[in-house]
Amino acid sequence: MTGRRTVRIYGNWKMHKGPEEALDFFQKWSLPPAGNRCECGIAPPFVSLVPLVHLAKEKGLKLGAQNCHFEEKGAFTGEISAFMLKEMGVHFVILGHSERRLLFGEDSFFIAKKLRAALQAGLEVVLCVGETLEEREQGREKEVVSEMLNASLGDVTRDEIVERITIAYEPVWAIGTGRNATPGQAGEMHAFIREVIDERYGAGTGTQVTVQYGGSVKPSNVEELASVEDIDGFLVGGASLETETFADIIEKTLMVKQLR
Ligand code: 13P
Repeated sequence: MTGRRTVRIYGNWKMHKGPEEALDFFQKWSLPPAGNRCECGIAPPFVSLVPLVHLAKEKGLKLGAQNCHFEEKGAFTGEISAFMLKEMGVHFVILGHSERRLLFGEDSFFIAKKLRAALQAGLEVVLCVGETLEEREQGREKEVVSEMLNASLGDVTRDEIVERITIAYEPVWAIGTGRNATPGQAGEMHAFIREVIDERYGAGTGTQVTVQYGGSVKPSNVEELASVEDIDGFLVGGASLETETFADIIEKTLMVKQLR
């Protein structure tokens, strides 16, 4: 891997595990940190972040949020700002997840505003992009991903995308379906994402950006996916909810990437 690329394996718990269950997971977690070329972390629901901050540090896990608002403070009932997350010790925020885009009507321009706020607050960002099954069947997957990426990145600079942003390629048809993208499909899209970044920020930038894959990642398919050079790690949903399964995914990735 070149430049600042890091093997990053994050769990997205979605709307699972309140504070008690989340604490139980972290207390059971026993995998040692894998050194500075690999970062592992969990994004629990907002209410479970507070009790996890100290344990996360102790266990070498990065703590993430699943959303944030773009304003620093104000009359935005029910929202939580990126600055508040940073203040409490959160490391990264997931933005642009297909569930936010499709179930909550977030478009790429709205996501770009949040991304700017998150970077300003000092958070790292996992920016998700991915096509629906219909778009893939129409042969439009690259067009869709390129449009999403370009619009969601907004005014992000070259340094910011290399140093502080992870792109997560998550095809919608692979999320929670048990049907992962094949290594060939994922590899092709990851290489394409790097081309889009090259076009936008100059040749050679794409190979320096960390690009994760997400969508039905589990212990039985993680090795073949991790063996693709362009896949730098994973954003794991369902399989990150059990300590043994998530630890297995991490161990297997580290073995394939020769970091263990
Ligand atoms: P699953 O791993 O459950 O398919 O979810 C993937 C995902 O949406 C991670 O953000």
